[in-house]
Amino acid sequence: MLSIKLLNQYYGDSHILRDLSLEVPQGRLTALMGRNGVGKSSLLKCLMGVVPARSGSIAWSGQALTRLPPWRRVSQGLAYVPQGRDIFARLSVEENLLVGAASRRAPRGIPAHIYQLFPVLESMKHRRGGDLSGGQQQQLAIARALMSQPQLLILDEPTEGIQPNIIQQIGRTLRLLVDEMGLTVLLVEQYYDFCAEHADFYAVMQRGAIVATGKGSDMQARGVQAMLAI
Ligand SMILES: Nc1ncnc2c1ncn2[C@@H]1O[C@H](COP(=O)(O)OP(=O)(O)OP(=O)(O)O)[C@@H](O)[C@H]1O
Ligand SMILES: [Mg+2]
Repeated sequence: MLSIKLLNQYYGDSHILRDLSLEVPQGRLTALMGRNGVGKSSLLKCLMGVVPARSGSIAWSGQALTRLPPWRRVSQGLAYVPQGRDIFARLSVEENLLVGAASRRAPRGIPAHIYQLFPVLESMKHRRGGDLSGGQQQQLAIARALMSQPQLLILDEPTEGIQPNIIQQIGRTLRLLVDEMGLTVLLVEQYYDFCAEHADFYAVMQRGAIVATGKGSDMQARGVQAMLAI
């Protein structure tokens, strides 16, 4: 389990995460939802150690992460797909993938299951990252994150600006990673229907804190969509 307790984070004087606590169960897909600017991406950056937490704690499988640098968190099993994907535009697809393997747990070369999960990447492996479509870049970003053989995959709005058929494919892939490969997925997502379809658990964030949690199958009954409306 990923256990976040009383986390506080600031940009200068702006208090963003406010005593945020959340438990993300192991081997399941949890969707973190919330309106623009509530601090979702900031939370993920704190989890990865990309921005510092002022106070509070983060633990994965009982191991404290709070003070570890990002690369140590990767070697503890975390992987991160940032909002906007951050593909290396001038590197080939294959090179982008190999960058993802530059960690302690990395395998040599590109393991077969990566291209099985994302066949389009194999057919485009010599193409430059920047020449891929948005949906293909998102698949590349997920595949790159998987290269470190993570236990916990953290994604920031993977459906943002992507066409519906690729969104469906990404949803199926995330379910497969959870159901067949035993990964834990924490997904920040504003696309309600995607969460309702794929999430085992949900959490709703408002103004830097978690205000509701539950099972994905209860989202409708609990009125989650209304919490996300203005
Ligand atoms: N580097 C930064 N410096 C200062 N303020 C920041 C920085 N990054 C984000 N913020 C502010 O922190 C708040 C939370 O931003 P964050 O990106 O975490 O929100 P979000 O929930 O991910 O939003 P979105 O849904 O638009 O992606 C916002 O008010 C934002 O303007
Ligand atoms: Mg964001």
